[in-house]
Amino acid sequence: MSSATFLARAPSNIALIKYMGKKDATANLPENPSLSVTLNGLCSWVEIQRSASEPGRVRWIAELPHAAQGELLVPSLSSEGQQKVIAHVERCISLAPEVFAQHGLSSLPDARSRFCYNVRSANTFPSASGIASSASSFAAFTLASFAACSKDRDAFARAFKTDLAFRRHLARVSRVGSGSSCRSFEGPFVFWEEEHAFAISTRMPELRHFVILVSSEPKAVSSSQAHLQVKTSPLWQGRPERVQKRTDHMKQALEVGDLFSVARLAWSEFWEMHSLFHTAAEPFSYWQAGSIEALHWLSPFVVPKSSSAIVTMDAGPNIHVLVAAEQAEAWRQRLHDRFGVKAILEDRPGSGAVLYE
Ligand code: PMV
Repeated sequence: MSSATFLARAPSNIALIKYMGKKDATANLPENPSLSVTLNGLCSWVEIQRSASEPGRVRWIAELPHAAQGELLVPSLSSEGQQKVIAHVERCISLAPEVFAQHGLSSLPDARSRFCYNVRSANTFPSASGIASSASSFAAFTLASFAACSKDRDAFARAFKTDLAFRRHLARVSRVGSGSSCRSFEGPFVFWEEEHAFAISTRMPELRHFVILVSSEPKAVSSSQAHLQVKTSPLWQGRPERVQKRTDHMKQALEVGDLFSVARLAWSEFWEMHSLFHTAAEPFSYWQAGSIEALHWLSPFVVPKSSSAIVTMDAGPNIHVLVAAEQAEAWRQRLHDRFGVKAILEDRPGSGAVLYE
C-alpha cells in the first residue's frame, strides 16, 4: 500500500482559436475563449511512483516511465522547467483532499508528508516545438498526481471515467500548471472560456491530423513569454472583440459540420496570432523558411473544395493539417510526396486523458 505506481497518458491538443494573452497570469485565465481539437497518439505519458522513503519530497527523474508504450522521448527540462513540474505535482497533492471531498472520494491521510513522489515523463513527439507538449504533459501530471493520493484507486479511476464534474475539476487544477492543458481532458472538440473547458458536440466529419515537421528544435521563446509580449503589439488592440466574433462563427460552423468555414476561420486565427508575435515591441517569430514554404504550398487548399484542409500553427514552426478522414489517403500521399515520409507525423482526434490501471 505504501509503495505504488500510477500511470497516466494525456494527448496534446491543437487550438483552432488560440489562447494567447492572459488576464490572470497566476490562475492562467485567458483573455479570450479558445477552441481546440484533442489529439490521440501525440501524447505524454507520466508515471508517479509513490514510496515511503524520503517522505515529503517530489522528485523529477529524467527517465522513461517504466510501463509506457511506444517510441518515446524524455523531455530535457531546464531546472526552471523541473521546478514548474514539481510545484504542480505538489499543488495537486495539496489540493487533493478538498477536491476529492467535493466528489465523494477519499484521499490518503497526510499524503503530502508521508510519501515521496518520483515523477517520470515522456512524449511521443519532440517537446517545445509547437505540438503543445505542455498541454499533454501537464494534463498527465495532474491526473497521475491526483491518482497517487487517492485512498481507493478503483473508485478514483471509476470517478475519472464516469463523473464529468470530477474530470472538469481536475482540468481546472491542471490549467493552473499550464493553461492549455485544461483542454486535454475531453475531446474531440473542446471549448475553453474563463475557468471552464468542456467538449462541444459538432456535426464535423471524422478527421485525420497531420503535422508537417519543419523542425523539432525546442523553441527560443516560451509560450509564457509570448502570452506577455503579444500585448505590446499594436495589433493587440481589438483582438479580444475580434476573436470573440471568430469564436462564435467557428462554433456555428462546427455545429453544422461546415469544414470549409472552420478552415477559413482557423487560417485567419493562426495568422493573427503569429502577426502579434511579429509585431510585438520586441518582435519574435517561430517561423522558419520551411514553415513559409509549406504555408505557401497549402494556401490553395483553404478554399471550398473536396480536398479542403484545416491548417493551423501553434507557437512553433510546425504546421498542423486536419482533413476529412475520407480524404486522408490522398493527403498522406500528397504530403509524403512533397515533404518526405519522415517529415510527416500522423494522428487523429481523440477523447482526452486516460489513467492506466
Ligand atoms: O498553455 P500555454 O501557456 O503553453 O499556452 C499555449 C498557447 C498556444 O499553444 C500558443 C495556443 C493554444 O491555445 O494552445
